[in-house]
Amino acid sequence: MFFFRSNLFYLPDLETKRLLLRRIRVSDAADVFAYSKDPEVARYVLWQAQTEFREAKDYCRAMVRQYRTDEPSSWGIVDKGSGHLIGTIGYMDYNSGNRTTEVGYSLARWKWNQGIMTEALREVIRYTFSEMDINRIEAQHETENPASGRVMEKCGMKKEGILRQRLYNKGRFVDVCLYSILRSEADHLLRDG
Ligand SMILES: CC(C)(COP(=O)(O)OP(=O)(O)OC[C@H]1O[C@@H](n2cnc3c(N)ncnc32)[C@H](O)[C@@H]1OP(=O)(O)O)[C@@H](O)C(=O)NCCC(=O)NCCS
Repeated sequence: MFFFRSNLFYLPDLETKRLLLRRIRVSDAADVFAYSKDPEVARYVLWQAQTEFREAKDYCRAMVRQYRTDEPSSWGIVDKGSGHLIGTIGYMDYNSGNRTTEVGYSLARWKWNQGIMTEALREVIRYTFSEMDINRIEAQHETENPASGRVMEKCGMKKEGILRQRLYNKGRFVDVCLYSILRSEADHLLRDG
């Protein structure tokens, strides 16, 4: 039995072993700035590395505004151990006719390669299929960013192909690799959740 909210993109708190996914607050700005000023984190995403603290504050304010509009938006990823916000994960796009959504994510560099984003994405996939009327979740990564593809793969997403020069990012047209997972493939996540 699915529970469909009238406010589709209301993001409730979600918890995993190491992480709390919760809505971003303006008071998270210092944590956001700490990782978003890193050009390595920004390299394969569609935003520029932040250079001033003010940009992090503006980003948090924009997220808070977005939560009120029921548009696709992102959770902040909080490391339960330290209490710090270490990244974001959320919905980039939504098509109601096709019941598809796209997810995207970023993580502080000092937390890479510890299974954190796999843990977060797995929970977001579980939540999306158990609480929202979505049939297909997509994600895409630049072909030069294989770590992101590995996260998708580890979460049970299937590689569908390369879209040539699909995006224009930081002065170049880049190839992206498209992944998806269907509701019918995610039974184990719903069961284990
Ligand atoms: C991509 C990103 C989200 C990965 O998060 P993460 O928490 O480090 O991911 P995980 O630890 O869960 O898994 C990473 C996997 O990629 C693998 N990996 C790391 N670097 C790699 C590389 N250069 N080539 C291939 N695989 C790589 C790791 O070995 C690991 O796989 P394994 O568990 O089989 O060993 C993180 O690096 C990040 O936020 N990068 C900057 C923002 C970004 O690129 N976002 C995605 C845009 S599509």
